[in-house]
Amino acid sequence: MSEQTITYQGPERVFSGVQPTGNLHLGNYLGAIKRFVDLQHEYNCLYCVVDLHAITVWQDPRELRSSTREVAAAFIAAGVDPERSIIFNQSAVSAHAELAWIFNCVARMGWLNRMTQFKDKAGKDKENASVGLFAYPNLMAADILAYKATHVPVGDDQKQHLELSRDIAQKFNNDFDAPGFFPLPEPLIAGPATRVMSLRDGSAKMSKSEKSDHSRINLSDDADAIAKKFKKAKSDPDLLPASVDGLRERPEAENLLGIFAALSDRAIEDVVEQFAGQQFSSLKNELTDLAISVLEPIRGEMDKLLADQDELDKVLASGAGRADEIAQPILSETKRIVGLI
Ligand code: TYM
Repeated sequence: MSEQTITYQGPERVFSGVQPTGNLHLGNYLGAIKRFVDLQHEYNCLYCVVDLHAITVWQDPRELRSSTREVAAAFIAAGVDPERSIIFNQSAVSAHAELAWIFNCVARMGWLNRMTQFKDKAGKDKENASVGLFAYPNLMAADILAYKATHVPVGDDQKQHLELSRDIAQKFNNDFDAPGFFPLPEPLIAGPATRVMSLRDGSAKMSKSEKSDHSRINLSDDADAIAKKFKKAKSDPDLLPASVDGLRERPEAENLLGIFAALSDRAIEDVVEQFAGQQFSSLKNELTDLAISVLEPIRGEMDKLLADQDELDKVLASGAGRADEIAQPILSETKRIVGLI
């Protein structure tokens, strides 16, 4: 695809989304939500509970409603300010679905066929996967581009989807001779915890769908559960290394030290130096104390917020109104460019 000669000149904006599909975990917090908080000081930000993405696989309607509120509560409890940033749920702003349809007609089957997440999620029985699951990355592009967002903080697992969003933006701009109309959104994947791994297997991503609850720290875990899970976390027989180079081929050590660095806002080099030559058990003990000191207040605040459902729904509705005001003119202009009256 040829490079665009005219680039997007509009304002910078941050967009990101989290699916309301069960327990949020430490990977979601460190890879995404914690970073949402920091970015609010630099950018105008929209943070979305992506309920339309969630229903690409079966969701119990009652659980979907409560998970949607839980993710919104987690954003706020972690420090996203609903006055400064826009917090809302995806299905409340129709521009996402409308723009996704247009992008279904821009993206190519070949592009989507390459998406590893679809292959992972659909598993062996691809014929039985929903059409929505296949078209999922087009909806993601619509989420971002409905606001002409320029920066997208995500964990490492979303990189391929973000590249597809850029391809869609570029193809749209080229096909409709609208140079620079959509920005090519930049993924913001940075820090020591872009890919938090399972506590039971340093080669597998920490994920909501992993059967063993011991593989992850949930934001809903109490201090006891956090302590137990770190204690049982997989380790290796050697002492902790003296340099970052020594973490090669030691995924469990790398994971725990990375989590420590991210939770304490320190560089990985610094943390490796602190634990050089020590046993896993001393790292695990300190990590447990640190994780509890960061996560307990968030859990407490989430519980408080979830106790007042009406208030939380008001926050979501107000966010949706503000999001809609940004998206509608962009959608109208997109439709005009496409030739829709
Ligand atoms: P989701 O809901 O699976 O995850 C939410 C965010 O958490 C990050 N994440 C991780 N980061 C580090 N280590 C891990 N083990 C880990 N697991 C998850 C994800 O990378 C993500 O940033 N498709 C997206 C949601 C989405 C979206 C968007 C994101 C929909 N539209 C538009 C950005 C922009 C997803 O399923 O995330």
